[in-house]
Amino acid sequence: MSLLALLNQRFAAALAAVGAPDAQPLVQMAGRPEFGDYQMNGVMGAAKALKLNPRELAQKVIDAVDLQGIATALDIAGPGFINIKLADAWLGQRVQAALSAERLGIAAQPRQRVMVEYSSVNLAKEMHIGHLRGGIIGDSLARIHGFLGQEVIRQNHVGDWGTQFGMLVAYMVETRNHGEADFELKDLDTFYKKAKVRFDEDAAFADTAREYVVKLQGGDAEVLALWKQFVAISLEHCNAIYQKLGLLLDNGDVRGESFYNDDLPVIVSELREQGLLTEDQGAQVVFLDEYKNKEGEPAAFIVQKQGGGYLYATTDLGAVRFRTRELKLDRCLYVVDSRQALHFQQMFLVARKAGWLSDAASFEHIGHGTIMGPDGKPLKTRSGDSVKLGELLDEAIERAYQLVSSKNPDSDEASRRQIAAAVGIGALKYADLSKNRNTDYIFDWDAMLSFEGNTAPYLQYAYTRVKSIFRKVGDWDQNATVLPVEAAEHALALELARFEDTITQVARDSMPHFLCAYLYNVATAFSRFYEACPVIQDGVTNPSRLKLCDLTAKTLSTGLGLLGIEVLETM
Ligand code: ARG
Repeated sequence: MSLLALLNQRFAAALAAVGAPDAQPLVQMAGRPEFGDYQMNGVMGAAKALKLNPRELAQKVIDAVDLQGIATALDIAGPGFINIKLADAWLGQRVQAALSAERLGIAAQPRQRVMVEYSSVNLAKEMHIGHLRGGIIGDSLARIHGFLGQEVIRQNHVGDWGTQFGMLVAYMVETRNHGEADFELKDLDTFYKKAKVRFDEDAAFADTAREYVVKLQGGDAEVLALWKQFVAISLEHCNAIYQKLGLLLDNGDVRGESFYNDDLPVIVSELREQGLLTEDQGAQVVFLDEYKNKEGEPAAFIVQKQGGGYLYATTDLGAVRFRTRELKLDRCLYVVDSRQALHFQQMFLVARKAGWLSDAASFEHIGHGTIMGPDGKPLKTRSGDSVKLGELLDEAIERAYQLVSSKNPDSDEASRRQIAAAVGIGALKYADLSKNRNTDYIFDWDAMLSFEGNTAPYLQYAYTRVKSIFRKVGDWDQNATVLPVEAAEHALALELARFEDTITQVARDSMPHFLCAYLYNVATAFSRFYEACPVIQDGVTNPSRLKLCDLTAKTLSTGLGLLGIEVLETM
């Protein structure tokens, strides 16, 4: 059981014993060292309900609570907080247990089927910086749920459908007839621009493009085959990026918008059958009283345009229906830019009204902010174009290579390249994951590649430092008891024991920055420990301390791994 769960359980029992069975124990990490390791904050609420003096009730709780062997001191503070100091020996046992158990002793959660939908790029264009955050955050969440024993379905809901694909396929056919198509498709953006120029300048070409859209939607085999080729080439481009960025996504995770094409008329007719649909200026809409505009009119959620075309929203309703009915998800996380928040709120609401979504499943929009330039506006290239993701990743690796080379001028080229890839990509990912995902942040190469502060290079380096200790020691007693008696040892053991609480919180709230903050705390606690408590003294190894080092290394590598960041044995 996690530390917090255990303390809460024991205090809940104590509260029940003193006559407050409904009170919440509210145990938290202590805010300051003088408050001990944890603090129990539930006495005041209970005292109020029972009309008792809180400090007197606190004393009763202390007398009643069973923390034999777990806590050494329980003190009343302020109006009725209980400060908790954990026992060194007990923390030592937790460290030992974590080292010998699977998953560092972290319990599997009740098994759920969890979908993490992320990346979800539009295949008509090249990937750009706007795709970075969702990719990184989604990938980390998928890893974390997998680690906690969930059945994870990664999903790449790519934009592979819609009118622009008629134009792109038409241009593909045209350039192929000139014998150059596949070469140009490598540069998707140029290809798109050229197709657009042809569309705008040549009426006959535009007619062909429109004809292709109709054929595509009607399931014409020939045009479908061409479209498939286009999609495949475009996905190759995405996969190359995913690989370089170390995302788990591959073609097996792709289920694009096109997949729901046949369901779209059904979505509209089911909404109609349920009396949810209104015709408004030729369009089919669901009016939502829950979302009123300034004039007090309900918002119109459009599911079919005038003329019969379907929209992004219709496809999303199809996807919800498929995910609950066919995939029977317990939870679905849509990792998508926060600017789509209203779309998701309204779409989930419509899905609920239609009965495609119920309380049995938790569908959540996991929004994220924007990556900004130094001017506080969304990051662009000097010429004002969007920053291509492929180029950004190359730059991260190149910058890391310069850095690594300046630090280790003597190490060989191949290992410098290898370190650079891990550090460059790690820095980019960590800079993102360590920020609260709800906020925007300013992109800063120097800050993310710094070896000081809450950065990937700092943590990767901390890991190599711990590992280097093991290269210095010979045989040591693996069966020794861990007894963290010094203050710095106690603090490190406590930090290590908090891993499970951290991961469960991240999984619940989809907030990877809590994990980053935690790993940074582990690394700094280790630093203090390493300065104050020699692991090898006069040639003699202290096995208790070595075990703390061992769990530190394993916690850092596991935690960074859950963020999708590699560790290295040496740097
Ligand atoms: N392809 C969309 C875009 O680029 C994002 C899709 C997000 N996922 C979803 N189920 N709507 O904006």
